[in-house]
Amino acid sequence: MALRLPLRAFGSTGMEVSAIQLGTVKIGRAAKLPYPDADGYVLPDDRTVGTLLETARELGVNSLDTAPAYGTAEARLGKLLGHAIHDMLVFTKTGEIFDGAASRYDFSAAHTRQSVQESLSRLGTDSLAGVALHCPSEDMESLTNSGALEELHRMKDEGHIRSVGASTTTLAGGLKAAELCDYVMVAFNAGYRDQEEVIRKAADMGRAVIVKKGFNSGNALDGNPRDAVRKHLKAIFGMPGVSCLALGTMNAAHLTECAQDLASLDP
Ligand SMILES: NC(=O)c1ccc[n+]([C@@H]2O[C@H](COP(=O)([O-])OP(=O)(O)OC[C@H]3O[C@@H](n4cnc5c(N)ncnc54)[C@H](OP(=O)(O)O)[C@@H]3O)[C@@H](O)[C@H]2O)c1
Repeated sequence: MALRLPLRAFGSTGMEVSAIQLGTVKIGRAAKLPYPDADGYVLPDDRTVGTLLETARELGVNSLDTAPAYGTAEARLGKLLGHAIHDMLVFTKTGEIFDGAASRYDFSAAHTRQSVQESLSRLGTDSLAGVALHCPSEDMESLTNSGALEELHRMKDEGHIRSVGASTTTLAGGLKAAELCDYVMVAFNAGYRDQEEVIRKAADMGRAVIVKKGFNSGNALDGNPRDAVRKHLKAIFGMPGVSCLALGTMNAAHLTECAQDLASLDP
């Protein structure tokens, strides 16, 4: 029987996401990346991305993580998926503006609305599963002292987006995001458990959790990568409250192996 990823509740939103979500930085951005192969990284061609998206669909991946700060990722997803974008739960972000060399941040209400409208247009859809604050590493200010979250909640009430989130870095920021948002996006893997309390609090409050950097951006796959992947998956999905893992691969074989490894984990 064909391998299909299990669906998991996305907090209290009523949505269900596949255990693995496709992270899309490497589809659209070639500069300032954290990956071991970042030096000289060349964006994949349409055929490679198309194969990846087709493999994701076959495995039952039903959600995507993207962002305006991921260069051409949103536009490429819109173009390559076409009408099939409506079969995907698309999560994007707002607040980080990357000009190809450096990032600046704008969490004003006006920029937030414009950013979401531009994402909808690039992606070719009229509704997003979620929009998260794309917080800088000092994340508290953008969560508590800006108009962005309020504007996102307004856009949710208006029906443009189905959930509001924040991608955070600090423990305090993650805990605050769990109070204020429908979902949080935090780094977590077998060697980095600093955000465990955020995941627990989010679960207690009925919030969803997207794990990012599950393999430490590919920097924690030393030795036998497949064994390392299994170790990280076990740590991530051993945490009650994790909704899904955003996996930042450009390699269809890696995606398939990850789905197989997840299926082989002890329940
Ligand atoms: N601030 C934020 O909001 C934020 C920050 C970071 C990440 N994210 C999101 O989270 C996603 C995941 O994070 P991430 O991309 O930093 O890291 P990640 O998923 O931990 O790692 C991705 C890296 O691991 C490599 N990899 C994956 N499986 C592999 C395997 N079986 N063998 C060897 N290498 C493998 C990938 O290379 P291949 O392409 O060769 O597979 C890629 O370079 C991102 O795509 C993005 O959507 C958000």
